[in-house]
Amino acid sequence: MTAKIIDGKSIAANVRHNCRSRVELLKRSSGITPGLAVFMVGEDPASAVYVRKKIQACADVGIQSHKFLFSHSDTQDVVIDKIRELSADPRIHGILVQLPLPKHFDLKAVLGAIDQEKDIDGFHLYNVGGLVVGSTVFPPCTPYGVMLLLDNSGVEIAGRNAVVVGASNIVGKPMALMLMQREATVSVCHAKTRDLAQFTILADILIVAAGCPNLITGPMVKSGAVVIDVGINRLPNGQLVGDCDFEAVSKRASMITPVPGGVGPMTVTMLLVNTISSAMRSANVANADFALADL
Ligand code: GUN
Repeated sequence: MTAKIIDGKSIAANVRHNCRSRVELLKRSSGITPGLAVFMVGEDPASAVYVRKKIQACADVGIQSHKFLFSHSDTQDVVIDKIRELSADPRIHGILVQLPLPKHFDLKAVLGAIDQEKDIDGFHLYNVGGLVVGSTVFPPCTPYGVMLLLDNSGVEIAGRNAVVVGASNIVGKPMALMLMQREATVSVCHAKTRDLAQFTILADILIVAAGCPNLITGPMVKSGAVVIDVGINRLPNGQLVGDCDFEAVSKRASMITPVPGGVGPMTVTMLLVNTISSAMRSANVANADFALADL
């Protein structure tokens, strides 16, 4: 079997096209331009690249972005004060704090300062809690993007065995909750899991977000499985790879996401979706939530 490639770039391009139309419509009907505030503290080079991509993506669909850069030596209170100010600013519909924060910052205090109605990353405890009961205001962007890839590719979820490798707060845990909400039977594996292969081999849907190149080899994958590789790893030779041995796994899977060009383009795109949903909600537009089926 040779897996069909799930083309995240092309699916993301379609969603962005839809975003552009919604922003236009919102501007015309209510004079509101969606606004996103992006915070970055310190000089982490990878974070700087992500922030640049997010700001470019906003411009691409007509969202007004505002960048707030703080130095490593700025205090947490200064950052929190600015977040509170923007939480009360009606021109701002989304607030994003790029992670990681410097070690001396209290992550919970910073994220907790974001108005939950503007927490377009879905990291505020209120939004995380909402995932448990299936009614979060903002689904976190990477797992939200994965769900869209699965739906767009016609993958049946209810009743299937889904295995999530990686239990981070940003990807693995919310991913598992979203799959449970859609009635998959979900197992979550992590760094302490013994004999990973005994779990992965049972997966009809295998989601890998461990940050470890070649963690998943061909024999670990059930024939015909759908494999979503969330990993982004830079090898010493400069090559960008996921967490799966792509060659070997694509011989067993029925569908697979490439790296790059799979999940990556979806993450930033879902940030745009959440920001526009927030702006539509603030304008009291009926049906402000982007239904997955609409995208
Ligand atoms: N750092 C790594 N991934 C993310 C993300 O999805 N959102 C934010 N804010 N920071 C990140």
